[in-house]
Amino acid sequence: NSESLILGIETSCDETAAALVRRKPDGSGEILSNIVRSQIEEHRAYGGVVPELAARAHVIHLDTIIQTALDEAGVGFDDLSAIAATAGPGLIGGVLVGLTSAKALSAATGKPLIAVNHLEAHVLTPRLTDGIDFPYLVLLVSGGHSQFVLVKGVGDYERWGTTIDDALGEAFDKAAKLLDLGYPGGPEVEKAALGGDARRFDLPRPLLNQKRLDFSFSGLKTALRLAAEAVAPVSEQDCADLCASFQQAVCDIVSARAGMALNQFTARFPGHRPTLVVAGGVAANKTIGAALETVCAQNDARLVVPPLPLCTDNGAMVAWAGAERFALGRQDGFDVVARPRWPL
Ligand code: KG4
Ligand code: ZN
Repeated sequence: NSESLILGIETSCDETAAALVRRKPDGSGEILSNIVRSQIEEHRAYGGVVPELAARAHVIHLDTIIQTALDEAGVGFDDLSAIAATAGPGLIGGVLVGLTSAKALSAATGKPLIAVNHLEAHVLTPRLTDGIDFPYLVLLVSGGHSQFVLVKGVGDYERWGTTIDDALGEAFDKAAKLLDLGYPGGPEVEKAALGGDARRFDLPRPLLNQKRLDFSFSGLKTALRLAAEAVAPVSEQDCADLCASFQQAVCDIVSARAGMALNQFTARFPGHRPTLVVAGGVAANKTIGAALETVCAQNDARLVVPPLPLCTDNGAMVAWAGAERFALGRQDGFDVVARPRWPL
């Protein structure tokens, strides 16, 4: 459990990212640099991430991003303890770029390689940002994922529910597309909803009467489309009301599920005040954040929302997950493969 300095590489979606993180013997961490290049401009015209374009952009930019991360931290390859890269889940072309670069750097420098699960990186990040202890609950809501994860230790996770169709961020993106708002959709829907009446449209709250912790958002999206068609042509006020109603439905769903998850946590760990961490791009949504704040207050739970640049995809989370694994003596061989799917 000595000090380590880890390079983290993230290329599984549309951010090319590299970071340097130091882990101290007491288990705390320090971010020395965290460089993220977003590909939003490359994909904007398509209203979503185009995998082939993403992979090519990673190839073009990754080397520079890694060098910038090293320079900004003031360290060189010799100083590293290990090199960590996302090995999945994600868009396979992109994952291959990052993982193959990490293998090449590892081979050239002799530094150990650590293949990191992207979801594990998201759920371990609050230990870096907020120093929280096991066990805790994470609600991971991004463009690709919507799930509750019980984090019991490094490498010790339980998925308590997931989406049976669209991810929450994806639902926001599709809602925005259907209302001709910009990309990415989440911030646009949130902005439009500010001037809207959340009670005007009665949208469904799928699966809410069920006991399992799963989500379903595709029915909500269809209901939104039908509501928009019913009032067409959609005026600016209609659009605001549709966005507000959509966001309210999402808040109700997420709050109800979070309440259930916290109950389940308390039943499992009596006497242990629950901590709920929100991760993923949707954590930026203030209305959802406020709703979760309320649920946590009602359940005597602590809500942790790490700083947004660490909630969304970045290299520091990969470096940190690498550091946590490295501290336990875990490394990977060059035979480790990139995985498009890799449940925790
Ligand atoms: O974590 P992230 O940056 O990338 C991955 O998907 O891995 O999340 C991006 C997602 C997009 O779907 C975006 O629309 C959504 O997060 N998002 C939001 C907000 N900001 C970003 N959703 C709702 N409200 C927001 N303010
Ligand atoms: Zn992510």
